[in-house]
Amino acid sequence: MKIHIETERLIIRDLENFDAQGIFDLDSDPEVHEYLGKHPIKTIQEAEEVINFIRNQYLENGIGRWAVIDKKTNDFMGWTGLKYEQKLREDMSYYDLGYRLRKKYWGNGIATETAIESLAYGFDKLNLKKICAAADVNNIASNKVLQKIGLQFIETFDYEGKPHNWYTISKSEWVASKNNR
Ligand SMILES: CC(C)(COP(=O)(O)OP(=O)(O)OC[C@H]1O[C@@H](n2cnc3c(N)ncnc32)[C@H](O)[C@@H]1OP(=O)(O)O)[C@@H](O)C(=O)NCCC(=O)NCCS
Repeated sequence: MKIHIETERLIIRDLENFDAQGIFDLDSDPEVHEYLGKHPIKTIQEAEEVINFIRNQYLENGIGRWAVIDKKTNDFMGWTGLKYEQKLREDMSYYDLGYRLRKKYWGNGIATETAIESLAYGFDKLNLKKICAAADVNNIASNKVLQKIGLQFIETFDYEGKPHNWYTISKSEWVASKNNR
């Protein structure tokens, strides 16, 4: 099992097949999917497919979303991290920052904490030049996280019939924002 990041309260590691129940708890919740197209999953088999899909990205792209684990309880909290995104924007491929947590873990700064760690991993370890993110304009929590950690709003674009905010941060912007903290 590959652990990528450890903080005081979290372990951030590769998603594993045994996370199927955790992914099911996460992705079967309609509230979690409110701004994600409103297609929550219904079966454990779908959860297993999600894990296979992400684990394939580790092999094909060298990166994909990672599991977030509560260090104290070993509970599966959700996922976070970077993905090489090739479909969301018609005109470009890019490294996308994202996060999705089980509802019981919302409101404790966990998305912000894992997003900060993901940016550092992308720029320091993967040596990326730019990281991007998109959020439904009505997804206040997600927009807030992206703004808090230093991503710059660029434009609003249409994704599946819904307006989304588009954000980017370059390595030099990230270095400058770190030095200003
Ligand atoms: C988006 C998500 C990951 C945020 O996780 P989280 O750990 O609760 O986020 P954080 O606690 O780090 O930060 C959320 C911020 O938004 C604020 N916030 C959340 N809901 C809000 C609301 N309805 N109105 C105003 N502010 C809100 C919080 O107060 C916090 O800001 P603060 O630190 O200034 O107080 C979580 O809500 C989630 O999993 N949602 C479903 C999946 C999803 O939408 N993922 C993002 C797709 S782009």
